[in-house]
Amino acid sequence: MSVAEKVDFLIVGAGVAGLRAAVELAEYGQVLVVTKEALGESNTHYAQGGIAVAMSGEEDVSLHLDDTMNAGDGLVYRDAAEALVVEGPLRVEELIRWGAQFDREGGELMRTREGAHSLPRILHANGDATGAEISRSLLAHARQHPRITFADWTMVTELIVRDGRVIAADIFSRESVGGHRLRRVSARAVLLASGGAGQVYSDTTNPAVATGDGIAIAAQAGAELADMEFYQFHPTALSLPGVPRFLISEALRGEGAWLRNHRGERFMERYHPQLELAPRDVVARAITREGMGTVPGESFPVYLDMRHVQGLDLHQRFPGISRFLAEHGLDLHRDLIPVRPAAHYLMGGVRTDLSGRTSLTGLYAAGEVACTGVHGANRLASNSLLEGLVFGARAAQAILTDSLELESVEAVNIEAMDTRLTPPDANSIKAAILKLRSAMWQYAGLLRDEETLRAGIAAHEEIAAQLRDIAKPGQGSRSLFEAHALASVAQSILLSALARTESRGAHFRNDYPWRDDVNFQKHSIFSKSGQIAFEAW
Ligand code: SIN
Repeated sequence: MSVAEKVDFLIVGAGVAGLRAAVELAEYGQVLVVTKEALGESNTHYAQGGIAVAMSGEEDVSLHLDDTMNAGDGLVYRDAAEALVVEGPLRVEELIRWGAQFDREGGELMRTREGAHSLPRILHANGDATGAEISRSLLAHARQHPRITFADWTMVTELIVRDGRVIAADIFSRESVGGHRLRRVSARAVLLASGGAGQVYSDTTNPAVATGDGIAIAAQAGAELADMEFYQFHPTALSLPGVPRFLISEALRGEGAWLRNHRGERFMERYHPQLELAPRDVVARAITREGMGTVPGESFPVYLDMRHVQGLDLHQRFPGISRFLAEHGLDLHRDLIPVRPAAHYLMGGVRTDLSGRTSLTGLYAAGEVACTGVHGANRLASNSLLEGLVFGARAAQAILTDSLELESVEAVNIEAMDTRLTPPDANSIKAAILKLRSAMWQYAGLLRDEETLRAGIAAHEEIAAQLRDIAKPGQGSRSLFEAHALASVAQSILLSALARTESRGAHFRNDYPWRDDVNFQKHSIFSKSGQIAFEAW
């Protein structure tokens, strides 16, 4: 029997959580980091607003905790939020030592404010390119480590489980010659750090790589998912026909931007005392309602307005956004900017403890792919980069502790697998993905009810059946794997949303428009069989 290729630690994803973990793990063994496109293409890279971190002492730490708890609408796991806000400053100081350059004024770190933050505590880099700077600095640091190997244009398609333990993964890569390659790699531990699944919705701020692959392979292997009904819709993505839903950062509202409806009214006073800086779910629903016409299908534009903001050079403060808008003939100083909500961040994911351990031995998860409960039902703005740093480091520490106890992978004989696949029909896959994404937007978007969710489930079943028929033996392609991942994520969102008969945070049910703490101050748990249970933690 030929034996599969071996590494000590396999990391799926090269965003902030994966890279932070890689740096720690490489001190103790060989690390393979796989990433689906070129290095640097991740949700981390596109984060504009910044990184929320309490760098001004005890009071700031305790207020950051309060703000995180309040935004999460009664569902934040306090221990996770404490870990985030207490360890956050240490992780950011470490990142600065490793070379991250945040914007400064007179040598001091500049801090801005975003929705539902009680203090200005958001650090940013190059104005609106914070994620890109964090990604750049972490990658440069990780690249110096001789025990970290990167495999780009590569994805994990399946986790191999033996006796309840994840022992290997099947890895699919695009090869320059000889077609696509699928091979098996064994590891002492696998860390999922593969980010979110925004592509499950037709309208998303996420890049094309965000197809929920990590969540899907974990569920397929039998790991529990949690809180999948909580998808955060960012209130302000650019809304221009034929133009991608480019993110217009919440930091603009932090700098004083107002929201106006098509009649020119500043409407947020009708929805929340914090106006434009209300929690994200409230602002997103308000925009949706203001944009609805009175007859089905009728809709009106909603705008972000910065024309009144004085004494701030908006082009300098938001260079990336200004550049993108200029390409479409818009200027923050001069124009109303048409905006609408778009899927942005998944609060749910693979259920983990505070150290990234999933319900399967040998499998860990950190960052957006994971659900520690740190965000509850609605993530506080700019908490996700911090989450990646803190929980990436924690997961690495847990892997190191656990792998001393785990049976060494050397002792497990894993049969090699190395094969070539030919791609199936790309057009049918593309059509199925488009159908799924628009069904999810229509039936499981910002406002849901039993009827829409059941329609979504029916659409999902039909599309999943089509996908099963597309590939013949020996066929496979990245888009086919992604389509299966999206379908699996869609199913868990739809079933979890149907089971939660209340409204809380990002999950709003028209038929249950209230929060029901008696029955639902609990996290939903999705298991492979499609069953949903609710658990308090
Ligand atoms: C933004 O800049 O508005 C996005 C930041 C985040 O999602 O936390």
